Amino acid sequence: MDTEHQAPPATPAKPVYVVAAHPNWRESRVNRRLLQAALATESTEVCDLYARYPDYSIRVPTEQAQLQDAQLIVLLHPVQWYSMPALLKLWVDEVLTHGWAYGGGKALQGKDLWLVATTGGPEGSYHPQGYNRYFFDAFLPPYEQTAALCGMRFLPPLVLHGAHRVDSAEVDTHVAMFAERLASYPQWPELDDMESCPACVVPDTDRPAHETVGDQH
Ligand SMILES: Cc1cc2nc3c(=O)[nH]c(=O)nc-3n(C[C@H](O)[C@H](O)[C@H](O)COP(=O)(O)O)c2cc1C
Repeated sequence: MDTEHQAPPATPAKPVYVVAAHPNWRESRVNRRLLQAALATESTEVCDLYARYPDYSIRVPTEQAQLQDAQLIVLLHPVQWYSMPALLKLWVDEVLTHGWAYGGGKALQGKDLWLVATTGGPEGSYHPQGYNRYFFDAFLPPYEQTAALCGMRFLPPLVLHGAHRVDSAEVDTHVAMFAERLASYPQWPELDDMESCPACVVPDTDRPAHETVGDQH
């Protein structure tokens, strides 16, 4: 057999895809550590979004292929203005396309989406009497419903509040928990009891009458 000219075996796809978005890693105290933990995890593919696309020119087919290979998609980022950093929002806008991710598209159906986020505000600030006025959960529906529209389960988020000030032992514990979770997915106890996501079908009557390819929502 001519072994010399055989194609090398394809690298098996990794089950976890971490999309890490931080506009300024040099000033990061916590997300940088979480990124390092993800990079050190064998089962995990990592996209450092601001490094990969410094010109904001996202390669949609590349991202879609990586998502398709994964079973768990992790969004890792600091909370900015109660939401995700701008480039991650652009990634969502451009990669989760109609006909691929939703609206007849089923590329992400049955996968899991996990938000791993940090906030500057301490936990107590996310309270009706605190300066952020709402419990943190009140800011999650856009993530949760994005997952649902694409047929993904939205796993319980991992959030570290007060990221500037929590003591370093708490940061260490948090990073260790993240690393352990990545490495042990899908053997997470809470997943056994989680139902699959409800079907969210967008009727044609909610779409533009003369839709062209690439239109969104
Ligand atoms: C532009 C900007 C907006 C921010 N908005 C929020 C916010 O809405 N809520 C909050 O708790 N912290 C906010 N922060 C603080 C970041 O969440 C905090 O710096 C980050 O979580 C710390 O993580 P790091 O050490 O990895 O950078 C904001 C920071 C920046 C730069």
